[in-house]
Amino acid sequence: MGRVLILLGPPGAGKGTQAARLGRRLGLPHVSTGDLLRENLERGTELGLGARAYMDQGELVPDALVLDMLRARLECEDCRGGCLLDGFPRTLPQAQALARLVAEQGWRMLAISLEVPDGVLLERLSGRRVCRRDGAHIQHVLFSPPRQAGRCDVCGGELYQREDDRPGVIGRRLEVYRLQTAPLLEFFSALGVLSVLDGNRDMERVLIEIERLAQEAA
Ligand code: AP5
Repeated sequence: MGRVLILLGPPGAGKGTQAARLGRRLGLPHVSTGDLLRENLERGTELGLGARAYMDQGELVPDALVLDMLRARLECEDCRGGCLLDGFPRTLPQAQALARLVAEQGWRMLAISLEVPDGVLLERLSGRRVCRRDGAHIQHVLFSPPRQAGRCDVCGGELYQREDDRPGVIGRRLEVYRLQTAPLLEFFSALGVLSVLDGNRDMERVLIEIERLAQEAA
């Protein structure tokens, strides 16, 4: 039976960092709506151009655009057995659409929320650097500094700072999370599929805990 593992949590909670490692270990493709949107932006697609203004201002991209993009991704061959979701769902309509899709496919679902205090999130986001060659390669100027300045440790690609990791935008993203995404914790809790983890710990420790929960639910 296939399964969907959802990583929830505010911007900077470590969803992308953990998903990049977990996907391989759990044999599930890592599907990040943020990465998919940024790829569209790089390629200059209509979707990317439409999403840009929302992303740069820390607002959510409209549900209809995100849902079409996600459905197309989940129809790919590698998602036949499910996937590891990072950054999706973020609104109640997205969560409801996902729950319907999971039921149609007969997949199991587990949602894990990573909890991290706002002060730590700010520090993480403002120091984050992302690889231009592969957005799943994430580093931090203090917490996982690159061996060679400005270059990704994994593939040597150029590291850059995301437009939405600038101080003015980070505050808005945290607010949008509280208003629009945090209420989903109740949604998944009511379905009996939610686990909450302390994400303010060493990256390895968090990874081990997520793996343990994923195995228990398997
Ligand atoms: P998205 O790309 O999804 O961003 P986000 O949810 O804001 O999450 P982040 O990528 O900022 O944080 P993360 O939790 O992945 O943290 P990370 O692992 O990098 O979305 C961007 C935008 O796209 C949205 O604002 C919206 O406009 C749009 N969008 C995307 N999905 C959408 C949707 N479904 N609906 C509508 N709009 C959507 O870690 C952060 C830093 O901390 C890194 O530098 C890392 O090295 C470090 N770090 C991580 N864990 C630890 C640890 N344990 N200890 C120390 N440092 C750590």
